[in-house]
Amino acid sequence: MFPTTRLRRLRMHPRVRDLVRETQLDVEDLILPLFVRHGSGEQRPIASMPGQFQWSVDQLPGLVRDIDSAGIPAVILFGIPEQKDAQGSGAWCAHGIVQEAVRAIQAESSRLLVMTDVCFCEFTDHGHCGVLTHHAGRMDVDNDATLDLLVKEAVSHAQAGADLIAPSGMMDGMIQALRRGLDDAGFPHIPIMSYAAKYASGFYGPFRDAAESAPQQGDRKSYQMDPANGAEALREVDLDVAEGADMLMVKPALSYLDIIRRVKERHPGVPLAAYNVSGEYAMVKAAAQAGWLDEQRVALEILTSVKRAGADMILTYHALDVARWLAD
Ligand code: PBG
Repeated sequence: MFPTTRLRRLRMHPRVRDLVRETQLDVEDLILPLFVRHGSGEQRPIASMPGQFQWSVDQLPGLVRDIDSAGIPAVILFGIPEQKDAQGSGAWCAHGIVQEAVRAIQAESSRLLVMTDVCFCEFTDHGHCGVLTHHAGRMDVDNDATLDLLVKEAVSHAQAGADLIAPSGMMDGMIQALRRGLDDAGFPHIPIMSYAAKYASGFYGPFRDAAESAPQQGDRKSYQMDPANGAEALREVDLDVAEGADMLMVKPALSYLDIIRRVKERHPGVPLAAYNVSGEYAMVKAAAQAGWLDEQRVALEILTSVKRAGADMILTYHALDVARWLAD
C-alpha cells in the first residue's frame, strides 16, 4: 500500500519501462494482405486505403522481395478476376488470378509464406460469398452447394503452391469440408486458418472497393455474425476447432478485442490471428492525413492492443510501415 508501493517507480527510467513491458509487437507476427489483378505494369492505388494498391502479377516479384527483406513472414492474397459469373468459377480456375499470383510469388521467394483467402465474393457477379438460391422466398447463399465449390477453390490454390489457406466465407461445415477436400486431393499438410468469428461489419467498406466485391444486393448478415454477439463466437470457434482448423481468426480486430480475449482463453493452445481490417486502417490514415493524430503512434498502439488482447498474429495493411517503424 502507498507509500510503500509506488507503481510510478516502474515508469521512470526508460530501460525499466522496457524491462517490464508485457506485450511486444514484432514484425514476425504480421501478415500483409495483397490485392492482385490482371494486366501488366499495374500498381493501382486504392482510393479508400492510402498506401495500398492493386498489383498486377508481374509486379509481385519486386514487391515480395521488399516484404521479405522487411522481415514480414507472410502475405495473404485477394484476387480481382477479369470476369465474374454467378458461381464464381474464376476462383477455381487453374490460371485464375490468385493461382497465377501464388506461382509468381513462389517462384521468387522461398522464405515468404503464401496464404490465400478462400471465398467467392470477389468472383461472383452478385458479390456474395457463395452461390445463391431461393430460400423461404428470399435470395440467400446456398450453404452446402457452396461447400463443394470452396473445396474446388482451395484445392486449386494448393495445386498452384499456396502454403496455407484461409477460408473467410462463414459457411457452416466449411472447415470439415475443406479439410477432407484437401486431404483427399493429396494436401494433408496444408494448414487451414479459419476466419472463425467473422462479423458482418461496416469496417470492410474500403476492402470492398479494393477487391471490387461489394454485394450487388442485400448484405452478408445471413452468414457473417451479428456484432452484438459474443457467446456465439465461442460456438463458431469450437466447431471450427472440432472440424480441424489449425489456426483461428477473429475479424475485425479493434471493435472485437473482447472476442479475441475470450477465444484465446477458450483455446489457449490454438494459434489465434486477428484481422485489423480495411476500415480500421482507413480511419487511421484519414485522421493522420488531416493532421489529427500521429499515424505511427496510433497504429502501433492499436496493433499492440490487439496482441495484448490475445492475438498471436495480426493481418494488417500497416505491416510494411510497422517493419520500418520498428527498425528505426
Ligand atoms: C472476403 C473478405 C472480406 C474481407 C476479407 N475477406 C470482405 C467481406 O467479407 O466483405 C475484409 C477485409 C478488410 O476489410 O480488410 N470474404
